[in-house]
Amino acid sequence: MQSIIVPLSTLVMDVLGMTTPRNILVTSALPYANGPIHLGHMLEHIQTDIWVRFQKMRGENCIYVCADDAHGAAIMLKAEELGRTPEEHIEIVKADHIKDFSEFLIGYDNYYTTHSEENRELSEMIYLRNRDAGHIKEKEITQLYDEEKKMFLADRFVKGNCPNCDAAGQYGDNCEVCGATYNANELKNPVSTVSGKTPIEKKNTQLFFDLPQFTEFLREWTKSGTLQPSVANKLNEWIEDGLQPWDISREAPYFGFEIPDQPGKYFYVWLDAPVGYMASFKHYCDNHEGVNFDDFWNKDSTAELYHFIGKDIINFHGLFWPAMLNGAELRLPNGVFVHGFVTVNGEKMSKSRGNFIQARTYLEHLNPEYLRYYFAAKLTAGVDDLDLSLEDFMQRVNSDVVGKVVNIASRTANFVHKNANGLLGDTFDNPALVKEAQAAASSIAEAYENREFGRAMRLIMAIADNANQYINDQAPWKLAKEEGQEAKVQAVCTTALNVFRLLVLYLKPVLPELAEKSEAFLNVAPLTWADTESTLENHQLNPFKPLMQRVDKKHIDAMMAAAQADAEDAEEKAPAQEDNAQEDYISIDDFLKVQLRVARIKKASHVEGADKLLQLTLDVGELGERNVFAGIKARYSPEELEGRLTVMVANLAPRKMKFGVSEGMILAAGPGGDDIHLLSPDEGAKPGMEVR
Ligand code: 2FM
Ligand code: ZN
Repeated sequence: MQSIIVPLSTLVMDVLGMTTPRNILVTSALPYANGPIHLGHMLEHIQTDIWVRFQKMRGENCIYVCADDAHGAAIMLKAEELGRTPEEHIEIVKADHIKDFSEFLIGYDNYYTTHSEENRELSEMIYLRNRDAGHIKEKEITQLYDEEKKMFLADRFVKGNCPNCDAAGQYGDNCEVCGATYNANELKNPVSTVSGKTPIEKKNTQLFFDLPQFTEFLREWTKSGTLQPSVANKLNEWIEDGLQPWDISREAPYFGFEIPDQPGKYFYVWLDAPVGYMASFKHYCDNHEGVNFDDFWNKDSTAELYHFIGKDIINFHGLFWPAMLNGAELRLPNGVFVHGFVTVNGEKMSKSRGNFIQARTYLEHLNPEYLRYYFAAKLTAGVDDLDLSLEDFMQRVNSDVVGKVVNIASRTANFVHKNANGLLGDTFDNPALVKEAQAAASSIAEAYENREFGRAMRLIMAIADNANQYINDQAPWKLAKEEGQEAKVQAVCTTALNVFRLLVLYLKPVLPELAEKSEAFLNVAPLTWADTESTLENHQLNPFKPLMQRVDKKHIDAMMAAAQADAEDAEEKAPAQEDNAQEDYISIDDFLKVQLRVARIKKASHVEGADKLLQLTLDVGELGERNVFAGIKARYSPEELEGRLTVMVANLAPRKMKFGVSEGMILAAGPGGDDIHLLSPDEGAKPGMEVR
């Protein structure tokens, strides 16, 4: 039986009417270590950071960890392309990521990497526990293999025609045109995007996490109230459609962790990525006394665990991850908080549209707190996309933060300095206004707690509106000119600045830097939520300095121009960075492999049963005669072709067709049908001549 031991500190706090702080572990999804941070990432990390800062201000023991997601074939290939080892590459990228996030004021307690010893140990532990509990199975599957690069091809390294709708250029997992999902080896005309070659099929044994064994568990878990309703519904659809075993192993070469009992096989990146949450926390625990890893991760943990993620990775966090944790006898998340995507002026962010805004590009032109406020003002607890409408962005920040909040201080601070050397009075001209602002604390806290940040911002701005109305009505700048009104001016400004202090406190999770500057002006210790209960009277202020500039449209325009230039630059400098680069370009060597020859059409005839084809006998000089079927019947009669010179591909592998074997191809221009024009060499060309 478990004994219940209540720590003395808890008892003392209960007697004092205080509650024990909650232990809360919070994560944002781990960004891949192969690309820059962009505003899509920023939405998530800002959302998480606001929630965490709020919890910390409330005195909770809230720990926020993140890391770079450093494994996988994509990162390995990217490093190779840049002439780095994967280890060097992920270090460089991580440093950039940390710089971007910290300038956006994201206050992680630890930012780590999944390529760590802690993560290796924890991933192995979770795998071995699942294996020993019978949740891992071996299965033989057919995979595409690139003979030149000597590697099995992960889905995204194969492109071809969709097996369903025949759309060209589709990846090996699903079709962007018709939405069909399939296995890479079902693609038609598959091409390895690594080498540009046609892959072969090869049998291979892989390890599968037996997700179907967790069907009942997941059914219950998704109904437990842990998830947003729309997310729970989506997961339930997948569960009811039937869960499939999940392929968790990848063949060498792969940048990741080798599977302990399977030399040459590696954990699929998505196995060790969420374990990276634990590993980052482990690293934190090892460097901070008094925080015990097991207290947070054991099955009976009373600590809370929350993951903030985007809607594209619901399956990993809502199915695989809880199942893996459950299979390893570990605790489950208390919440998986899903958000939508960022759009810019109503459009999806994309490089080709030139509206793909990197965090760095933003930081070079605009204050990060503008974006933090704008995102907060538009965030709900739902999964809807969030539009960064740049006009609205400018107006909202200027009108709310600068026009309503900062303005209260800038309109009143100087009178206190002039009249009383910066000493606030001990009387409020309007105590009800201050009380009202204090009374809003609980509804604002509730909105923050529930991730209804937009609602929190509206509640805060309503207080600011009242305060501004009050200042307008009192017009201290007029009063100050009147005889004998010093006390009144002082009482009005003391009222206004007390409301200002509360507004700054309420906004502190969103605008930590504005809060810090305001704390310096107000001459107070860092504000916490408990400070909503007190007011500032007979208190010395510091000189007032401007707290925030208005958003200037010039800077927005400059940022968008830079985003556009980034996109063009990326295209010019590194076309090879795109996955499909090898399809768009061939090397000169590739071109030289195509043998083009002059051919004389010796004989042309109709083909019985064929609507479009003519059968041609070609004289190719030293190469002899070739039989070729050509789809040119709609344009040419056999008679007009006989005797003509044209150009043919002479080393095309013979193709067996319904009417016979075709031994090459003649070249013609035009879209086809009767709009087709056979190429002919200039006079003097002879059958068999090479064409270059
Ligand atoms: O989708 C992504 O960007 C992944 N790198 C997220 C990983 S989150 C976690 F599971 F590690
Ligand atoms: Zn398709």
